[in-house]
Amino acid sequence: MKYVIGVDLGTSAVKILLVNQNGEVCQEVSKSYPLIIEKSGYSEQNPEEWVEKTTAGLAELIQQFDGDVNDIEGISFSGQMHGLVLLDQNNQVLRNAILWNDTRTTKQCQQIYDVVGRERLLEVTKNPALEGFTLPKILWVKENEPEVIERASVFLLPKDYLRYRITGNIHMEYSDAAGTLLLNVAKREWSNEVLEAFDLSGGFCPPLVESHAFVGSVSAEFAQETGLSEAVKVFAGGADNACGAIGSGILSEGKTLCSIGTSGVVLSYEERNDLDFEGKVHYFNHSEENTYYTMGVTLAAGYSLSWFKDTFAKEEAFDDFLAGVEEVTAGSNGLLFTPYIVGERTPHADSTIRGCFIGADAAHERKHFARAVLEGITFSLNESIEIFRSSGKTIDSIISIGGGAKNETWLQMQADIFNVKIERLTSEQGPGMGAAMLAAYGCGWYPSLQECAEVFIQTDKTYEPIPENVEAYKKLFKIYQQVYTQTKELNEQLREFRK
Ligand code: XUL
Repeated sequence: MKYVIGVDLGTSAVKILLVNQNGEVCQEVSKSYPLIIEKSGYSEQNPEEWVEKTTAGLAELIQQFDGDVNDIEGISFSGQMHGLVLLDQNNQVLRNAILWNDTRTTKQCQQIYDVVGRERLLEVTKNPALEGFTLPKILWVKENEPEVIERASVFLLPKDYLRYRITGNIHMEYSDAAGTLLLNVAKREWSNEVLEAFDLSGGFCPPLVESHAFVGSVSAEFAQETGLSEAVKVFAGGADNACGAIGSGILSEGKTLCSIGTSGVVLSYEERNDLDFEGKVHYFNHSEENTYYTMGVTLAAGYSLSWFKDTFAKEEAFDDFLAGVEEVTAGSNGLLFTPYIVGERTPHADSTIRGCFIGADAAHERKHFARAVLEGITFSLNESIEIFRSSGKTIDSIISIGGGAKNETWLQMQADIFNVKIERLTSEQGPGMGAAMLAAYGCGWYPSLQECAEVFIQTDKTYEPIPENVEAYKKLFKIYQQVYTQTKELNEQLREFRK
């Protein structure tokens, strides 16, 4: 039996999967690392931590593996998107990585519009200037740490840096490059126009490759540290959302995904690169060649839930913490939560807004708060579905992966709030599985990702919407949508008190 490894370099942890030729996950290792939050709105990580944890995780996986390591043929990656890693001319890291959920760059987003123009930016990059994307971070470093940018010779995204440390070769692939605001998404090339507008040289951007491209072998040193064979082929990999889509079989028109990790996304496959969503949803290159996807993002989806649990019940396991939410009826007895704890992206690109509970009542218990958090996250994701529906898409079935697929009550809630059939897969490992599939395809196990998906991905269970819950949630969603406008100004006033 042959194997491949999928490494998902996430925001809270690196998850490593060993997958066999039948698509079965044979082993799984996860190693977590912290966010560095120096102040409100900041979010960084030390790239060395990614390398150390991945090395330790792979070493553990190989140690526990009772097969022949030479049967592990390939490895590929899924990575948290947009994070800025700056390297000097000796490829040494110049500062901590500034991550996708860091929102310090509102001023730089405005600067991008002023210099390039919103219309032109949308034409070239297909996306608006959002705080989380990479170019605003580059401009922030330019303005605030000029001595760092002067020494910077190339920039990378998180998983590309990790892969560089494994192979010694520098590349970026299209699905992650799409989230930098420096790529001409339709033409699949770095945009000289945008680079020149900000005095950035072409050499600052790494060479571009396909997600399944073979980009080198594991270095002798990395092989020694992990126990991997030096013959293991390394494939470029993809953005976590693109990989989540591949790992869920989102490989044809009409397929939609709801993925809840630290962030939450609703994502739809697109064959075409010339549709106009007016920047309301992200429009990126897929990790399948020459295809695309559109997506709406809730900045703090799983993060809202883990923040809530860690703040009020740190020691409890998630399952215990969520026990009882199934007893509470739709609407959490009048308690409503907005998941804006780090600001929001879709549909409100707003780094100042913050979350709230509305309607707290003396009769509410912890289980009502926990359910309200799940409902608030799901309402936020429903905003993206509404955008897709109003653009003419028919969405009547959604594949759910990640944290939202681990809990039966939450799966039913998604069916009820989205008013669709929800499908749970036998493996809800989306991004890690997608990375493994890119390696399997790269190794030539299958002639296409689609054919790989037919073997690797199976539906486990479906959830149909319950009509009375659908009706209750329709009313509640209208109330939820008003909370943003009603609390926007209050949050602007509160801003000066944030540390
Ligand atoms: C997508 C985004 C997040 C990260 C999470 O635009 O910022 O979903 O990819 O890792």
